[in-house]
Amino acid sequence: MAKTAEKSPEVAWVAGVGASSGLGAAVARRFARGGLTVVVSGRTAERLDAVVAEIRAAGGVAVAAPADVSREDQVVATLAKVAEHGTLRAAVFNPAEGERAPSLELSVAAFEQAWRTSTLGGFIFGREVLRTFLPTGRGTLLFTGATASLRGRPPFAAFASAKAGLRSLSQTFAREFGPRGIHVAHLVIDGGIDGERLRSRNPQRAVDAGPDGLLDPDAIAEVYWQVHAQPRSTWTQELDLRPYKESF
Ligand SMILES: NC(=O)c1ccc[n+]([C@@H]2O[C@H](COP(=O)([O-])OP(=O)(O)OC[C@H]3O[C@@H](n4cnc5c(N)ncnc54)[C@H](OP(=O)(O)O)[C@@H]3O)[C@@H](O)[C@H]2O)c1
Repeated sequence: MAKTAEKSPEVAWVAGVGASSGLGAAVARRFARGGLTVVVSGRTAERLDAVVAEIRAAGGVAVAAPADVSREDQVVATLAKVAEHGTLRAAVFNPAEGERAPSLELSVAAFEQAWRTSTLGGFIFGREVLRTFLPTGRGTLLFTGATASLRGRPPFAAFASAKAGLRSLSQTFAREFGPRGIHVAHLVIDGGIDGERLRSRNPQRAVDAGPDGLLDPDAIAEVYWQVHAQPRSTWTQELDLRPYKESF
């Protein structure tokens, strides 16, 4: 009897993974539960190892690939590693950085750093992922946005402009590659995420928010999964998510 060829595992690459309680880790867990092999990237190996251990303990398949996604050489090298694990079907760009400062006190270096992380990083990540998706004619490329993606206000001159650039990039990619089978979407997180970043930097905000006043990272991740699962006759390019009591 002829042997049936083994199907290559489907891979999701999640970039911008930090603490287990953050959004990047939650997205990685959700895609692993969906049956994909998950490659997680961030700049801190210990945090990635912890997320990988958690996914494996739950029965999933995960691999840590430390990388700075604003560095072209590191993105290209990580994609080569991704290819060793199967066929890339989903890629999520989640990192962000942005010093808060009144505009007149904002240094050029801080402005540039925010742009490098979100806008340039999003371009390098997106371009290389698209190059990988195109020969198969399918794939989902998701970008994490924020309130600042749509609205500039102090003290977020660096962060807001970098995030607006990322949003514009996601629209460009969607219009260019949607007709070629690639689903590009931008998810606006319009509120605080109940994760390590907010709780360590602004613990009072978590107290003030009260029950369900912050976005639950696992609940956000569920939406990322739903967007990935959409049939191509019915694609979302952008959606926004906020707690029920957030004013907007
Ligand atoms: N936290 C909030 O309240 C909030 C609200 C609205 C929107 N968002 C958006 O949500 C996303 C982050 O989610 P989160 O706040 O829950 O954080 P998270 O997913 O826990 O962490 C994101 C991780 O990205 C990593 N990172 C930063 N720069 C990187 C780079 N150049 N290359 C690779 N990895 C990098 C950082 O880890 P290393 O330092 O170890 O690399 C960081 O821990 C961002 O896009 C942010 O704009 C957050």
